[in-house]
Formats: sequence, C-alpha cells, structure tokens
Amino acid sequence: MLPVHLYGLPAAMGEISAFAREHGLAVIEDAAQAHGARVNGNPVGSGGTATFSLYATKNITCGEGGLITTGDDEIAARLRLLRNHGMRARYDYAMAGSNYRLTDLQAAIACVQLDRLPAIQADRARNATLLSAGLAGLPGLTLPAAPAGRLHAWHHYTVQVTHQARVDRDQLAKCLDAAGIDAVAYYPKLVHDYPCYRGHPQVAADETPRAALAAQQVLSLPVHPALTGADLSRIVSCVRESLEP
Ligand SMILES: Cc1ncc(COP(=O)(O)O)c(C=O)c1O
Repeated sequence: MLPVHLYGLPAAMGEISAFAREHGLAVIEDAAQAHGARVNGNPVGSGGTATFSLYATKNITCGEGGLITTGDDEIAARLRLLRNHGMRARYDYAMAGSNYRLTDLQAAIACVQLDRLPAIQADRARNATLLSAGLAGLPGLTLPAAPAGRLHAWHHYTVQVTHQARVDRDQLAKCLDAAGIDAVAYYPKLVHDYPCYRGHPQVAADETPRAALAAQQVLSLPVHPALTGADLSRIVSCVRESLEP
C-alpha cells in the first residue's frame, strides 16, 4: 500500500497499518510533501518505510533528490545497493542497480535544511492558522483542517470551492492571479484523465466521483514561510471579495 500524505496532511496511518497487517501487505508512505508531519506524536516515516522529496518546491529542499527512511535493516541494505549500481564493494555487483546517488553538494544543503525544518514548519503552521482565521465563514468555501491526532506539515493550504460558492474554483483562481497571488489547483486531473495512463495496465480507471469533484474544486493558496502579515491579509481580502455574498 502506498498512502500519500497529500498536501502535508498525514494519512490515517493507524487504520492503514492495521489493514496492511491483517492482509499481509507492505506499506510505503509517500511523504514527499509531509516532512515533519506527525500521527499521534510520531513523525511520518518513523514507523516503517517512507519516501521524502527534496525537490525545489518542497518544504525543505536541495534542488532535486530525496530521502528514504526505514526501520528495516534488510530494506536499508538493499536500497544502499540499488542506489550505487548494485555494487557491494568496488566492481563487486550483488544485483542490477542504477545511479540514484545524491551529490555531496546537495546532501550538504539538505543537512542544513533539515536543521531549519522546525522553524520552517512553525512559519507554515502560523500562516495556515492566519489564513483559516481570515477565511472562516465564507459560503461555499471549505477550509483545510487536520483530524485529531494528525499534525499537518502545510506543504499546501488547499481550500475547496464548492457549488454553494458565488464563483467557481477557476474564476477564483483568475481573480487571485489578477491580483498577483499565485494560487494553483493541485491537481486539476485524475491519473486516468491522461491519455498515457488511460488503459495503462497498472492504472485502475474506476469511477472515482469524489476525486473527480476534488479535481474541479481544489485550490491551493500561498502558505510558504516567506509570506508577510501584509501578504496574508491581501490573500484573505482577495478571496473574501470574490466569495462574499
Ligand atoms: C505526493 C508526491 N509524491 C512524489 C513526488 C515525487 O517527488 P520527486 O519530484 O522528488 O521525485 C512528489 C513531487 O512532486 C509528490 O508531490
């Protein structure tokens, strides 16, 4: 199973882990967007195997690449081999691998970014709290919230513009864009909406009405640590002007 901690909100890991145990399934957490997110106080990725992205847009970054965490020594040993051409010692190949090595320069940046994670996370959480306070009560606007026991990493602050709203998601995005505010729909299409995945043997093109609706209604507002109080007020005012009855 591959639960995705989408937008930085950790998935329901208690239920997912119990289901996996019951059915003998392996779990790999996709924590690409969720550095520092927690479930019942435990950081995502600390209970099993998880992947984290360090791509340029992520909460911490070294430009490209990522991290894998695991508590399983066998998986760790296998990953170390796969990362370096399957090589156990010089020109002694244990398996077919590839070159997945992060450069030392990138790793040096990533280490410093890791030290900064608590401060970055606190800034994102503060910005999310201010946005939620400013946007509360608008008809047709559903605000993001973390269920009890789950600490959001606020990679995205994603609202849902429902049919009850005065304008639709795309109109709201246009108004924000005109005001110079970078609001983006993550994600505007489902996997099987793309021709290259429609009919792909590993993609199930089932009816997914909730995902289809989300693709039409979600919009992520800026929440990054560099926002000032004035920036946040401007975002709130612009959304309120578009949606207030
Ligand atoms: C949820 C999710 N999974 C995986 C990835 C892939 O990460 P990377 O770009 O580091 O390969 C991303 C990056 O955008 C992501 O957001």
